[in-house]
Amino acid sequence: MSESITRRAVKLAPSMIASDWARPLDTVRELTEAGVEWLHWDAMDGHFVPNLTLGPMFLAALRPHTELHFDAHLMLAKPGDYLDEFIEAGANSISVHVEAGAHLHRLIGRIKEGGAMAGAVLNPATPVAALDVILPTLDYVLVMSVNPGFSGQKFLPLAVDKIAELNRHRQEKGLKFLIQVDGGVSPATAPLVVRAGADVLVCGSNIFNSGTPQENVRALREAIDKAFWEAV
Ligand code: DX5
Ligand code: ZN
Repeated sequence: MSESITRRAVKLAPSMIASDWARPLDTVRELTEAGVEWLHWDAMDGHFVPNLTLGPMFLAALRPHTELHFDAHLMLAKPGDYLDEFIEAGANSISVHVEAGAHLHRLIGRIKEGGAMAGAVLNPATPVAALDVILPTLDYVLVMSVNPGFSGQKFLPLAVDKIAELNRHRQEKGLKFLIQVDGGVSPATAPLVVRAGADVLVCGSNIFNSGTPQENVRALREAIDKAFWEAV
């Protein structure tokens, strides 16, 4: 088995924007029972992306009801204006887009000072090289496998090469950051990203659009296990 496909723990992070917003507390309970590790919260401001979703108050409202790791993905034109609110709301990790501003280094520092894990996000058109300088300070890198803004889009295969490139950097430089992938993740695409080196899989429509979260989480886990077995 090669280094990059060594059996390792892969976390699932259901994307709450794809869930039924009439019953978020039930959803959190179902996902906890299904055994997911992270909950992914997509904050969109109608400027950085053409959609409006949730703010820190949603995390704050659900925070007392679950121990699950809260992962905030900020698709905001001015992420710096809201970092403190997301930290206070109980986010355990916060990611900001490389494309959202000139001060990524400062934003990453502020997230870490606030006690959360800090991630940087790459849009599909942004190369891995944009992170060269800052990579050693990151807790995770989020590789977008769709253009951000909406759940339910088709997986972009270009993400697989970017994950593999990040995985190579991680090994060559002895770094520990996690690689997260977001967009179009399903039992069909999960093996591709896991074999390339992804550690945290965000999944929206494939967990919530049909069947039950429990069944869909199980199908994803089986696909991930199979990816490792077939790579042996
Ligand atoms: C897209 C969001 C994703 C999205 C994933 O901008 O960042 O988290 O909800 O949904 P699916 O898995 O349906 O692509
Ligand atoms: Zn997301």
